[in-house]
Amino acid sequence: MYLSDDEKRLLDGAEGFVRQRCMAYLVELATVSGAERMVDLDGTTDFHVPTTALVPEYLFPIEELRKIVDEGAVFKAPTFANKAPFYGATFVDGWEGCAYPPHNDPAHHAKAMQPDWMELYVRMGLITTYSCASYLASSYWPSVGQHCAWNESSAVPYCNAVLGGRSNIDGSFASSFLAKAPYSGMHVPENRLATVVIDTERLIQTDVEWDVLGFAVGEECGLDVPALIHTAKPTTTQYQKFNTAANTGGSIAMYHVPGATPEAPTLEWALGGKKPAREVRFDEAHLKKTYEKLNDHRGDTVEMVSLGCPHYNLVDLMLLSRKLKGKKVKVPVWIMTVPALYHTAEQLGYKKIFEDAGAVLLSGTCPAAIAGVPGGIRALAVDAAKQAYYISGLFPEADDHLDVFYGTQDDCVDAALTGVWRGEWR
Ligand code: F3S
Repeated sequence: MYLSDDEKRLLDGAEGFVRQRCMAYLVELATVSGAERMVDLDGTTDFHVPTTALVPEYLFPIEELRKIVDEGAVFKAPTFANKAPFYGATFVDGWEGCAYPPHNDPAHHAKAMQPDWMELYVRMGLITTYSCASYLASSYWPSVGQHCAWNESSAVPYCNAVLGGRSNIDGSFASSFLAKAPYSGMHVPENRLATVVIDTERLIQTDVEWDVLGFAVGEECGLDVPALIHTAKPTTTQYQKFNTAANTGGSIAMYHVPGATPEAPTLEWALGGKKPAREVRFDEAHLKKTYEKLNDHRGDTVEMVSLGCPHYNLVDLMLLSRKLKGKKVKVPVWIMTVPALYHTAEQLGYKKIFEDAGAVLLSGTCPAAIAGVPGGIRALAVDAAKQAYYISGLFPEADDHLDVFYGTQDDCVDAALTGVWRGEWR
């Protein structure tokens, strides 16, 4: 692999232990991904704090971090924090009202937020967005063609497909600190072209249709780049839903919606003038089967509702506040958002509307990321394919089974107000 003189110095340890570990990690990542060189990142990064590497042998202790921070080290790339510390181990805001020990315990909260590590990262310039959808609050998006290193199901395709940035699913301390990543995958222009065309019998236009389509496309395409035809132009929420679902059914970093996404003014552009390797048509039965696969329940009684996967944007929160205004929910309702938007929702009065209705606004994580729901809850309704898939997987056994209901935000609001599930594929 080609390394510049500066990169060789880093790898040789001439710039100190932490930089050497970071460069060695990126070289190993490059080797695995088949990259022949590094790319200097001119966009942004995010990583799961406080993890210093995704591979144990490249982890380093906090003392080493403290040493370089005291010497003035900063993240070279603008860097955002993905979820609350330790892979979203607890809520950032609203935790006092979640009624789910230990998450409502101040001592647990303080410990989970890891002040030692976080204080050092903040001194390095970390922007503590704490969300799987940090781009909703970052106010600083990559321009078309800028190289980034992001994580997360909804975020990486948002960078590539929606914004025209360039990112693999590989944001790390190393890429943030050195502002480098292996030049492979989505950094390489020809890898961004569509190779599969996905058509659908119905016109895809509602939020749940985009969500279900995402899961089906993920299952069909795996790592391929699809072009989606026979869809309306997606909204921000629908892009988010498609992205998370496509990275749950599969691992989609990039896709095209001809006429909507920036690298695909037409289908021919999306394909780079070539013939697709495959053309697939999802009929009604296929999408209905996908929807039903994401539902895993025996009865119709709902004991809890969780909304906001990926974390709700402000319009999602506004629409939900209109639906809950003046109402009372019958079961616990959790609403997940980004910490910065939690405070905006508070200023806008949405939080008060939720509280008056008996629902709780939370930020920074979600039931799947904290690996559970409050004790005694055996039936959960959600409005996201990803949340349905992962939370079901956490309770697979018959004696530990969690009924999971998946449907639209309206279906979930109805279930919250009645305690009964009436959602179906429509
Ligand atoms: Fe985010 Fe949790 Fe969904 S971390 S994408 S809300 S599974």
